[in-house]
Amino acid sequence: MTQKTEGGDVRLAGISKTYGSFTAVHPLDLTVPQGSFFALLGASGCGKTTTLRMIAGLEDPSTGTVSLGDTDVTHLPPYKRPVNTVFQSYALFPHLDISENVAFGLRRRGIKSVKKQVDDMLDLVQLGQFAKRKPHQLSGGQQQRVAVARALINHPQVLLLDEPLGALDLKLRRQMQLELKRIQTEVGITFVHVTHDQEEAMTMADQVAVMNGGRVEQLGAPADLYENPKTTFVANFLGTSNLIEAEVASTTSDVVTVTCGGAKLKLPNARCQAQTATGDKLLVGVRPEKVSIAHADDADSIPDGRNRITGRITASSFIGVSTQFIVDSPACADFDVYVQNIERDSRLAPGAEVVLHWNPEHTFGLDADQAIDAGVQSVEDAS
Ligand SMILES: Nc1ncnc2c1ncn2[C@@H]1O[C@H](COP(=O)(O)OP(=O)(O)O)[C@@H](O)[C@H]1O
Ligand SMILES: [Mg+2]
Repeated sequence: MTQKTEGGDVRLAGISKTYGSFTAVHPLDLTVPQGSFFALLGASGCGKTTTLRMIAGLEDPSTGTVSLGDTDVTHLPPYKRPVNTVFQSYALFPHLDISENVAFGLRRRGIKSVKKQVDDMLDLVQLGQFAKRKPHQLSGGQQQRVAVARALINHPQVLLLDEPLGALDLKLRRQMQLELKRIQTEVGITFVHVTHDQEEAMTMADQVAVMNGGRVEQLGAPADLYENPKTTFVANFLGTSNLIEAEVASTTSDVVTVTCGGAKLKLPNARCQAQTATGDKLLVGVRPEKVSIAHADDADSIPDGRNRITGRITASSFIGVSTQFIVDSPACADFDVYVQNIERDSRLAPGAEVVLHWNPEHTFGLDADQAIDAGVQSVEDAS
């Protein structure tokens, strides 16, 4: 269709925010495609809320512009932007019933016949039978769905969500993630969702921008970010990566061979984010679920052509669907391996000598000139 669509992409151009001498958001260029579910992901304090508030007009950018489609909205006040925000604290009006909470935006604009629209919205969030209840008579997840309905009834072009599920317990949060995704698909409005939870971002979003220290570190579809992290921060923040300090032994246009702790590993040249001349340092990465573990007695049965590392199991935990092993090896002190529980080998217990092996294609290379543990989440962050 060549017809000009209403709304359009959200475009941030050189947008930044400083508070005194502190830069909360460094100049940022970002395009959120119209109709997409977009996540801003990062640890607490990395500038997610500030970025969202600049889109909403609740915060003046220090530099740069915010556009919706072809319209520069940088200097429009929040209420003149076709944007609504849902916060973690849903702040429903306690004395109004659910339907009046949802009707609020329409009433404020002087619209009298609201019933059909309110009913449609309550159906959308599957709360039709609760229309006459008061907020305190609903669960946290239901209240958050009311907050979403209350925002969507204004037909914004963009819905901004700032950690909207942060107050919910894990199981409810999982349900609400799928529910929000369904709602977004149904209404087709652009959602920009802020979260510090990497699983949440990957579950819901078409595109994820990983933020770190006021900058977007990497942008992409969830599977692409997961499989092809460009920095140690992204490799460690999204799931778990085994990163090994290695040295390049030889390079062809296809394959890089490295040495580390006595082992020789191969990886595709195309998956290296750094120089790969002989002698260069390289951080070599592989995800825990890509790795197989064999008891040392069975080492002869491992097919040729696999990357292999020997070590000893230091810990194993049975998680139900998988068993997670930690292996101490000369190449890497705590190598994580996740094995699906199909046939369990009782010899694979702490103390056992093992060989880890994986397809070289599943190996990636990162610039060694960065902190190997950037983005590793500490116990305190996990709350
Ligand atoms: N009004 C403000 N004055 C000074 N510093 C602020 C202000 N708002 C936010 N910050 C700082 O900016 C950084 C980013 O904050 P924020 O965008 O809220 O992060 P996030 O939402 O990712 O947790 C934080 O270090 C925060 O302390
Ligand atoms: Mg925040």
